[in-house]
Amino acid sequence: MTHEHGRKVKITATGFYAPEKILTNADLEKMVDTTDEWIMTRTGIKERHIASESQATSDLCLEAARRTLRNGNYTVKDIDLIIVATASPDTIFPATACWLQQGLQADHVAAFDISAGCTGFLYGMILAESLILGGTSKRTLLVGGEVLTKITNWKDRSTCVLFGDAAGAAILEESRDDSGILSHYWRADGSLASLLYQPAGGTRMPASAKTVAEDLHYIQMRGNDVFKHAVKRMGEAAVEALKKAGLKKDDIDWFIPHQANTRIIDATGERLKVPPEKVYVNIQRYGNVSVASIPISLHELYEDGKLKKGSIVVMDAFGAGFTWAAVVYRW
Ligand code: ACO
Repeated sequence: MTHEHGRKVKITATGFYAPEKILTNADLEKMVDTTDEWIMTRTGIKERHIASESQATSDLCLEAARRTLRNGNYTVKDIDLIIVATASPDTIFPATACWLQQGLQADHVAAFDISAGCTGFLYGMILAESLILGGTSKRTLLVGGEVLTKITNWKDRSTCVLFGDAAGAAILEESRDDSGILSHYWRADGSLASLLYQPAGGTRMPASAKTVAEDLHYIQMRGNDVFKHAVKRMGEAAVEALKKAGLKKDDIDWFIPHQANTRIIDATGERLKVPPEKVYVNIQRYGNVSVASIPISLHELYEDGKLKKGSIVVMDAFGAGFTWAAVVYRW
């Protein structure tokens, strides 16, 4: 779909919340056999925010949603749909979006979750665009939230250094000018699902004393394989979405990749020939916060005054599923 001259959907507010508690690489050195130097050179992560014992994903989403509504001068009554993207829901059911709805006291809206790994926020944008252009929603609250640290195996140094907790949100509605989503590209490949997943706790491997004893409720990842696919697929997504928008790589003002690893970000930037100063990177402060990384990046860029009217922004993500997607956006 390209909307160069047609109706478009735009973001009218952004916001995020990251828990107060910070876990540094120095802290991790005391927990597992690792070093700040290894984590920095292999991932680019310096520190990450960690949810408190009592905080679940919807609690982070609630704070991010409140801030986003406030930033856009909206009240809860102004939205008519809540979509939450998450890979670490409060409960398998009901949806985290419903727990968030309870917190927001938004009893007049529909609410549901989407599960698309780290690509969830972009899948959500693409879905919201279609619901808004189709007349189903006038104003959608889209939230990407994760508490990955509660499904992380803190004895596994190859994964526990990577993840953090946060939620980011955006309000989407029909654009009245030429800003908004210009094109998108989304794909999935379920044949690679088991390279990055949480094996137990669903109906494939129900929770039991054995699954708990074997640490099967935690994220399992074949990091090397994920890395290779991420670089290839994020490149593909950005190229295809740009093509649909009728734009060239040179037209990009800001490239916002999902923040999983600086080496993936650098390799994707090089593949696309986007100069490093146009690639937004904040992984050093948050770690991999999955679906929250793109809305946080958008909010930070906006708050820093770096998104100018007309700026071309390419958002690009890859995650569990595997799933991958890119959205080309004119600010
Ligand atoms: N500290 C020190 N050494 C470590 C650590 C650690 N924290 N973790 C692993 N190592 C060791 C390994 O044991 C291995 O040692 P060996 O050579 O003696 O066997 C060595 O470091 C190299 O390990 P690799 O796994 O080959 O390291 P790699 O360079 O691939 O980096 C990493 C690992 C950071 C996980 C990388 O593969 C990666 O970022 N992958 C992608 C992750 C990702 O993008 N996830 C995105 C989706 S997340 C989502 O959807 C929720």
